[in-house]
Amino acid sequence: MKKSIALAAVFLSFSMMSAVAFAEGDAGEAVFKAKCASCHPNGGNVMKPKEAIKGMKDPKKIIKQVRKGGGGMPAFDAKAISDADAKLLADYIIKTFKK
Ligand code: HEC
Repeated sequence: MKKSIALAAVFLSFSMMSAVAFAEGDAGEAVFKAKCASCHPNGGNVMKPKEAIKGMKDPKKIIKQVRKGGGGMPAFDAKAISDADAKLLADYIIKTFKK
C-alpha cells in the first residue's frame, strides 16, 4: 500500500515536470504561429525578405522589435504579448530558425 502511494507520487511529479516543459516550449511556438507566422513564415519575411528573423541570436533585439514594431511591422504591447510570452517567443525563434 505504502509502495503504491510512493510510486504514484513519483509518477505525478514526473508528469507535472513534463507538463511544465511542454507548456513552455509550446507557448513560444503558439504565440509565433498566432501573431508572427503570417509575415515571418519559417523565419523569413514576406514583406521585406532582407529583414528575415532567421539567424537572430539576441532575444533582446527580437523583443525590442516586437514591442516597438515599425517598418511595416505592427507593435505588440504587453497586453498583446506578455513579458513572459515575449521571452518564450524570442527563445523559440532563436532555437527554431537558425541559419
Ligand atoms: C504584418 C506583418 C508582420 C507581422 C505580423 C510581424 N512582423 Fe516582424 N517584421 C515585419 C516587417 C515588415 C519587418 C521589417 C521592419 C523594418 O524593415 O524595419 C519585420 C521585422 C522584424 C524583426 C527584425 C528583423 C531584422 O532583421 O532586424 C523581428 C525580430 C521581427 N520582425 C519579429 C516579429 C515577431 C516576433 C512577430 C510576432 C510577434 C512579428 N515580427 C510579426 C512584418 C511583420
